[in-house]
Amino acid sequence: MARNVAVFVGSLRRESFTKKIANALAELAPPSLHLEQIEIGALPHYNQDLDGESPPPEWRAFRDRVRGADAVLFATPEYNRGVPGVLKNAIDVGSRPYGKSVWVKKPGAVISVSPGVIGAFGANHALRQSMVFLDVPMMQQPEAYISRVDALLDRDGKLADASTRDFLTKYLAALAAWIERNVVARS
Ligand SMILES: Cc1cc2nc3c(=O)[nH]c(=O)nc-3n(C[C@H](O)[C@H](O)[C@H](O)COP(=O)(O)O)c2cc1C
Repeated sequence: MARNVAVFVGSLRRESFTKKIANALAELAPPSLHLEQIEIGALPHYNQDLDGESPPPEWRAFRDRVRGADAVLFATPEYNRGVPGVLKNAIDVGSRPYGKSVWVKKPGAVISVSPGVIGAFGANHALRQSMVFLDVPMMQQPEAYISRVDALLDRDGKLADASTRDFLTKYLAALAAWIERNVVARS
């Protein structure tokens, strides 16, 4: 059975480059992986005061969804050399209440995306820092910094660049192997 990979896109923009790369990932994934994007834009900002007996239903649904995944994959742009707030909020929501984080031990990986030349290196590593702290085994190699993304897409927003398609295909094969090495039974 295919491994169920929850994909988080750190941009809400309709024409998001990052989302287009995430769409390409679903298309390039091997049959052993099923990639599904999880909506994060409607999650209320994390507020510990709300996290009691009846937390916001959006948080509950999000936590259940992540709990049910075999692995997690982050596709993120970079905002001011860090992780966009919407994605950091999703990470925070999943990490609480204390002791009940839904991230623990899920194999994970990050692909950072930018129209700039540094490939959102800062966001990539800021996200790694949080996820390593949250006990997520993050794939170390290959790393994925997708730079100059605007030049890689065609007019329909499809990933047209052959070498990037090839790279991401290999990346996903490595991710599939990483998941098999690190997967734990679903809780
Ligand atoms: C608030 C803000 C901060 C940004 N900071 C960075 C940055 O630090 N590094 C970078 O490469 N691009 C930065 N950008 C430009 C984004 O890479 C660009 O807007 C990109 O298209 C966002 O990703 P998306 O297309 O998936 O929405 C920033 C954009 C915004 C709106």
